[in-house]
Amino acid sequence: MTEIELRSDNAAGVAPEIMAAVAAANPGSALAYGDDHVTTRLEAVVRDVFEHPTARVFPVTSGTAANALALTSLCPPWGAVLCHESAHILKSEGGATSMLGGGAVMQGVPGSNHRVHPDGLQAALDAVRWGDPHHSQPAVLSLTQPTDMGTVYTVAEITALADTARDRGLRVHIDGARIANATARLGCSPADITWRAGVDVFSLGATKNGALSAEAIVVFDNNAADELVYRTKRSGHVTSKMRFQSAQLIAYLTDDLWLRLAAHSNQQMEQLAAGLAEAGVEFLNPPDVNMLFARVPDEAATQLEAAGLLFYRIAPGLIRLVTSWQTSDDDIDQTLERFAAVLANTREGWLLRPAGSPTPEPS
Ligand SMILES: Cc1ncc(COP(=O)(O)O)c(C=O)c1O
Repeated sequence: MTEIELRSDNAAGVAPEIMAAVAAANPGSALAYGDDHVTTRLEAVVRDVFEHPTARVFPVTSGTAANALALTSLCPPWGAVLCHESAHILKSEGGATSMLGGGAVMQGVPGSNHRVHPDGLQAALDAVRWGDPHHSQPAVLSLTQPTDMGTVYTVAEITALADTARDRGLRVHIDGARIANATARLGCSPADITWRAGVDVFSLGATKNGALSAEAIVVFDNNAADELVYRTKRSGHVTSKMRFQSAQLIAYLTDDLWLRLAAHSNQQMEQLAAGLAEAGVEFLNPPDVNMLFARVPDEAATQLEAAGLLFYRIAPGLIRLVTSWQTSDDDIDQTLERFAAVLANTREGWLLRPAGSPTPEPS
């Protein structure tokens, strides 16, 4: 039985257009460390796509590096980065920002659906003992778009949160490991979701969406960019053959490839979620992008695994399913068939609500 990959978009391969771009950059030689014509072109492409005449871009090799470097370019060692309490930068990056930031801390802010709520942000800002050296001083608001649970902030929500942060002198960062999925979902312009909404720096994810260990930091603030020249080098991210990362990122951003790949991945999740909802499976929240958290008893999860479905078990009774640019229609049909077979076996006790009823709103 063929396995179906639903663990992570990280598990997907490299998009053919991106492989082709690497091959096209291969003939001949080019200067190292970003002093090559491909990396120079990347900046022009980023300025064009994000409609920002002075934007600067720093290719790096992982999303963790992009976040940690972006955040430390905005945050002093005595500063704090405010983020949602479930944010990847807080929970899943091993304290990279604190290490590279000389001790800067991350502080979690509550909010439903894994989004920072304006009231939670305001309360966190009001509780700060500003100017007191015994306390870390909030310097950055970091929003994960989409969130680690696959929910998205609207442009208006980002703008309102950025305004609140700016009122207290904070800068604004987006962890955009999957920002293409959010942009495709919202159907907005890349500029609207970033600098026009008040974002200073963001991490542009590409690897999860078809690139080969190529991510970037996009900077709309010249001071932060000037710092990143040194910070990227000191942390080992000024790679000698940067042209191959830059070639990927150019291909990624050209002709909306990033948005087309993400739209496909979102669409496959939409199909999957519709089928599962129809079969009566309950979700933690409706999937805005390519990620779904489904309530499945452990015994049923074991049967689904035995049927060749690859997914993560997040907690007892909770699994995560993720589609990618590579997920085919057949993958979705097969997944639904295998769910149906396991459902038929284990129906009793699994269905938390009658088949066909609407997915409940998240709490
Ligand atoms: C929301 C988010 N941010 C950042 C990262 C970090 O990316 P990387 O694993 O490339 O360091 C991930 C990876 O899963 C992620 O999901």
